[in-house]
Amino acid sequence: MAPTRLGVVGHPVAHSLSPAFWEPALAHAGRDATFEAFDVPSAGFEAFIRELAVSGARGLNVTIPHKTAAYELADRRSNVAERTGAVNVVVFDGAEISGANTDAHGVAAALGDLGVTIAGVRALVLGAGGAGRAAVDALRSGSATVVVANRTRGRAEALGVEVIGWADVPLALPEIDVLVHTTSVGLDGKASVLDDSALREAAAGRLRTVLDVVYRPDETPLVHAARHAGLVAGDGLRMLVHQAAEAWRLFFGDEAPIEVMHAAAARAAGR
Ligand code: ATR
Repeated sequence: MAPTRLGVVGHPVAHSLSPAFWEPALAHAGRDATFEAFDVPSAGFEAFIRELAVSGARGLNVTIPHKTAAYELADRRSNVAERTGAVNVVVFDGAEISGANTDAHGVAAALGDLGVTIAGVRALVLGAGGAGRAAVDALRSGSATVVVANRTRGRAEALGVEVIGWADVPLALPEIDVLVHTTSVGLDGKASVLDDSALREAAAGRLRTVLDVVYRPDETPLVHAARHAGLVAGDGLRMLVHQAAEAWRLFFGDEAPIEVMHAAAARAAGR
């Protein structure tokens, strides 16, 4: 039998860590499979996916900027994909394309790694883009009370949960148990969405845990500030690995070697 073909599609995709941790995981599990990175611009995305589907490939991870386009072209969608409007995994069955969203599982599992039991917590999500919607879905499905703040308020209001103003975040933070940050602020390693004093005040209140979905070779500015304030904090690397492990379940129907994935992802991220 020909090897199972998997991969990641994005534009650009050169920065993607996925091949660096999928390949060792596939080798560890003894799978006869390949994992390729496909750089495909938006204009060619649909044709690329349809062609790959009929070529016998098993499926793909889908990353920026194609998650909405993948949602639109999928023939079937998981419930989470329907609720978030974003597809980050496509699975092929001949020409039929199933779309799933494993980012929400990634958020829930990454919070679990930080010791959070989601049910009953009061959580604040910063950001209302694709990652923000996945975080809101994970928290709401896990029976947390969810509040969202986004720079552009209208985008948060579309999510159907309580919304607070962007400027009111420092004030609201001491009343929150868990903070999930999903904006792109901090990607440069410099700017942080919250200053140290806001985090210290929040830590004196209810706040205990911070998940930053951004990741960098070193600590993100938010993770650094949160740990400094005595909070439990983690970045997006484990979320990335957990969403991939859920994709593995969809591709193969069994469990991914998640610690192999995590170790390889950490190495590829420069740690
Ligand atoms: P993703 O799918 O990765 O979440 P996205 O849909 O482009 O990406 O969303 C980016 C998020 O970062 C949004 O919440 C965006 O806020 P707006 O909706 O107001 O654009 C947020 N964001 C980006 N730059 C920001 C900044 N400088 N300050 C605050 N929020 C910012």
